[in-house]
Amino acid sequence: MSHATSQTGPLRHFLQFRDLTTDEINYIFARTQLIKNKFKRYEAHHTLHDRNLAMVFEKASTRTRVSFEAGMYQLGGSVINLTTKDSQLGRAEPIEDTARVISRMVDLVMIRTFEQTRLERFAAHSRVPVINGLTNEFHPCQILADIFTFIEHVGSIKGKTVAWIGDANNMAYTWLQAAEMLGFCLHVSAPKGYELEAQRIGTQPANVLKQFSNPLDACRGAHLVTTDVWTSMGFETENEDRRRAFANWCVDAGMMAAADPSAIFMHCLPAHRGEEVTGDVIDGPQSVVWDEAENRLHVQKALMEFLLLGQINS
Ligand code: CP
Ligand code: NVA
Repeated sequence: MSHATSQTGPLRHFLQFRDLTTDEINYIFARTQLIKNKFKRYEAHHTLHDRNLAMVFEKASTRTRVSFEAGMYQLGGSVINLTTKDSQLGRAEPIEDTARVISRMVDLVMIRTFEQTRLERFAAHSRVPVINGLTNEFHPCQILADIFTFIEHVGSIKGKTVAWIGDANNMAYTWLQAAEMLGFCLHVSAPKGYELEAQRIGTQPANVLKQFSNPLDACRGAHLVTTDVWTSMGFETENEDRRRAFANWCVDAGMMAAADPSAIFMHCLPAHRGEEVTGDVIDGPQSVVWDEAENRLHVQKALMEFLLLGQINS
């Protein structure tokens, strides 16, 4: 059995949240709990012994890099890290050729890049599963970690309310897919000109999506308040305009007070205190951002295992 054909079932990718079924997401959360418990007990869990992950970063990263790299080693495998600068991608080798070559040599690929279509072109030419480590459109690994963190702190997310305050970016669109699949309501408040795009969201029932012009209204009754940077990677030229437009979209104590008394706060990080969130909120008692960051490690171990081995009991 060659490494490049070593997965047991049909080739599966994780390019956006809805590439998994609801049942598979619930399996991954159960598996994450088992893997996390073993990690905390220092018990070895080498289900991906001898497997190799290639990571391709076309944008910067701290959490995604460390969580995938540490995670694959902890599963008994190994990792190769490539960036645009240190590979032929930086000298215009087509993404399709890169995919054909890399996927003959490794078992699994994680990519962080710009357009979702670039990721899809890679996946279309890959012999092995491909994971979205963030694109302009989606950040599905982060939302897996966020919902697992919600379940740990609060319980099931079904029927709950999540308030997204700020840019309708890759995180917001991924939250929306998760709301549709897992049965919770997403409140979104973004400044004018930075809202969700009508053609991308289609028609959503009010128990899945509600949009608010006032961020305080979006927080009312929410069980989770979450936000992200005003300017995502790749949009830096818009920085000054965005600073002006987003000035009132800073999650502060007043917004947290409008939420459910049990509400928690999340941020995928990196954060800018004093911009999208105040220091007293992100460093305060309702914030679970460090658990959220740690859980990237555990959910992605469960995800990599699932993509290569399917559902297992060992
Ligand atoms: N949240 C997240 O993806 O962080 P990095 O950009 O550091 O990977
Ligand atoms: N929306 C942010 C997330 C960073 C992890 C970005 O794309 O830069």
